[in-house]
Amino acid sequence: MTATSRPCGPTSLVFQASQGQVYSGRSSCGDSKDLFVLSDSPSSSQSRTQPPIVALRGVGKTFANGTQALDRLDLEVRSGEFLSVLGPSGCGKSTALRLIAGLSEPSRGTIAWGTGAEPPAGRGPHDIGFVFQEPTLMPWATVERNVALPLRLRGAAASGAQRIAAAIDRVGLSDFRHVYPRALSGGMKMRVSIARALVTDPKLLLMDEPFAALDEITRFKLNDDLLSLWQMLGKTVVFVTHSVFESVYLSQRIVVMTPRPGRVFTELAIDAPYPRELSGGMRMRVSIARALVTAPRILLMDEPFAALDEITRFKLNDDLVALWRELRMTVVFVTHSVFESVYLSTRIVVMTGRPGRVSSELAVDVPNRDARFRTSAEYAGYCRVASEALAKAMQPRAGAAA
Ligand SMILES: Nc1ncnc2c1ncn2[C@@H]1O[C@H](COP(=O)(O)OP(=O)(O)OP(=O)(O)O)[C@@H](O)[C@H]1O
Ligand SMILES: [Mg+2]
Repeated sequence: MTATSRPCGPTSLVFQASQGQVYSGRSSCGDSKDLFVLSDSPSSSQSRTQPPIVALRGVGKTFANGTQALDRLDLEVRSGEFLSVLGPSGCGKSTALRLIAGLSEPSRGTIAWGTGAEPPAGRGPHDIGFVFQEPTLMPWATVERNVALPLRLRGAAASGAQRIAAAIDRVGLSDFRHVYPRALSGGMKMRVSIARALVTDPKLLLMDEPFAALDEITRFKLNDDLLSLWQMLGKTVVFVTHSVFESVYLSQRIVVMTPRPGRVFTELAIDAPYPRELSGGMRMRVSIARALVTAPRILLMDEPFAALDEITRFKLNDDLVALWRELRMTVVFVTHSVFESVYLSTRIVVMTGRPGRVSSELAVDVPNRDARFRTSAEYAGYCRVASEALAKAMQPRAGAAA
């Protein structure tokens, strides 16, 4: 791996992953607009081919006090997808949701609905459900009346009794419909908030860190509930979270934003089937996504694939090469595998035993690293030279501490 400059975030990151196999991404910083797929799953292309329900193009938002929250944000939300938005605090995630919801206007750029530039007929507040970070319930009103609020605002509460009951039932609170918020737990309040967002049967559900303040067990339960709702009702969900794990667990696609002024840094397609288990593959996806969250220029990887079987490891090697090319980042990769180091690297540093120092360096000058390279005589030659260098480095040194 080599060092090249890249205009995105300044942060360097330590990345120590366990296992994994499916991951894909695209960088807004690279020249290529191709989505590279790090998965064998043919389903990966499915959500990508859906038409956008809404598309933000070159959107900027500067507030009256001069704060520039967003700059050149290009974001497509595809019909029926579960999209998560990750990014550092203050990068403009909530601002972006508010723009989509029509609660605020962009300073620059366009927000296009459907396939055309105009909002589709019938688009209105009832087509969007918004779950805010705080449940924001009316304390003086029962669960039922809180959930009924959007219908009442539309003057349709009277005809909505069935809808209200169905929305409350969906979030498992039928037995609590006459209860006031003060008698509900945090998780239950959030369920009410979700029911309130669903009661108008919106096509698009915008969720701004809805589970951030909850304990992990409640959060996991609500994650599963939300996935069931999404799968059952066929909604489009845009889900803002600070939890990389949650985003990987829930989403088909993750958009990672840069620090403020926010724009898209990279996209990750998560192709794993639902329900998702905490497998080694999942942990690897979480680790990779976590490593990319701050748009690092340098990626430090400490034997990330050591515990994987060879097939998965080869696949992740290819994925990593694609990622390195796409994001143009510097990668420092620690490995025990000579073969892996030759396959991945533009330069290999061989260290001695403790106390460690550099024993030798080997430049690997290969333009294309793919399956053909792995079976070539050139690859075998590099591996032999690297193995010899390693053997030499392992020879005991005179005067070295035991
Ligand atoms: N109404 C406003 N007036 C002025 N500045 C604002 C306003 N709303 C947001 N900002 C600023 O815009 C930037 C983006 O805010 P936003 O709430 O969108 O961030 P965020 O990504 O949602 O952050 P967090 O993860 O902490 O929720 C911040 O610097 C914030 O201070
Ligand atoms: Mg926010």
